Amino acid sequence: SKDNFDHFMLKEIFDQPNVLRDCMRGRIINAPYSRPWSPQQKGKNTDSLSVILSAVTLHRRELLRARRIIILSCGTSWHAGLIGKQLIEHFCKLPVEVAYASEFRYSDSVIEPDDVVMAISQSGETADTMAAMEMAKKRNALVFGIVNAVGSGISRISDTGVYIHVGPEIGVASTKAFTGQVTVLVMLALALGMAKGTVSQEEYNTVLHELVMIPDKIQKVLEQNDKIKDIAKKYIHSKNFLYLGRGYNYPVALEGALKLKEISYIHAEGYPAAEMKHGPIALIDSEMPVVFLATHHQLYQKIVSNMQEVISRNGKILAIVTEGDEQVKAMVDETIEVPPTIACLAPLLSVIPLQLLSYHVAVAKGLNVDQPRNLAKSVTVE
Ligand code: F6R
Repeated sequence: SKDNFDHFMLKEIFDQPNVLRDCMRGRIINAPYSRPWSPQQKGKNTDSLSVILSAVTLHRRELLRARRIIILSCGTSWHAGLIGKQLIEHFCKLPVEVAYASEFRYSDSVIEPDDVVMAISQSGETADTMAAMEMAKKRNALVFGIVNAVGSGISRISDTGVYIHVGPEIGVASTKAFTGQVTVLVMLALALGMAKGTVSQEEYNTVLHELVMIPDKIQKVLEQNDKIKDIAKKYIHSKNFLYLGRGYNYPVALEGALKLKEISYIHAEGYPAAEMKHGPIALIDSEMPVVFLATHHQLYQKIVSNMQEVISRNGKILAIVTEGDEQVKAMVDETIEVPPTIACLAPLLSVIPLQLLSYHVAVAKGLNVDQPRNLAKSVTVE
């Protein structure tokens, strides 16, 4: 049910703190003996957290042997995959390719038996993702599913995997599934990094401690719903939007743009902020709002200079910033603040205002948010 919300999409956006707690439950534990695969360190850091994923425990051998990970997905799940690549490359020092399943299945892609193929899917029924997985299975790669819908086709053909456990997603625009996927990818990168010995105990502890605080921080972002609604009303007549971010926030820019296209029918493009100079800057004028992901992380100052370039061309800026950022606030038209966190978890907070923005723009335009035109919840035909 929609509870007291006007739409499933809004309910699912507001569900995020709770469902992410569900996603972590039983996987992140606080127990001194729980640190996997490093028996020599047993008993140390007694009050530290551990992440245990049975898929990683059971397939430890194949995962440690993997020379490469290939992530296959579509749409929003593909955006989560781009974040997964950064996480796994950082924590596991393992090369990761991310492909659209639809392209991968018809390409001459090389799959080796020591590749691990990860399929990310909310519905678990996406035809292209399923077909690409079948291909990987034929070539004897371990097929690892990151799925929401329990018992779905993709979950059944996976050799192993991790459910995101965020509950049914009814709104056509994916919201809580995205943050659930990113949460699982963080846990997976940490669990695998620990098994491989490629993450330091200190960083592992820091990330886990920050991760368990994310649901409360999302709650704080949600408290700005009314403010975001007011901002959204100013943009309903815009015909185009640009979304820019870097590093872990680059896929968030893509996701923010996709959300706006899907339910508000406003053309939007996401780019890595530095790519602006290589073309999109030609589009900037007073009619072209630019959404910047400008939290205090990687390359913040460079993002600030990108903003200056937009301002000098009369572009309107809406910036997602870290709480207390006075520098950007003084420069731009609108800011939405998110609580501080570490770079690799930034997407879990910075995507929230973008989900709400697209929702409120669509509602203000009188559009059918839960069932946007031409879209289906699961794409079971190619
Ligand atoms: C975006 C959206 C789609 C899906 C895509 C993949 O809001 O809903 O882009 O993300 O169709 O679907 P799943 O994750 O079910 O494989």
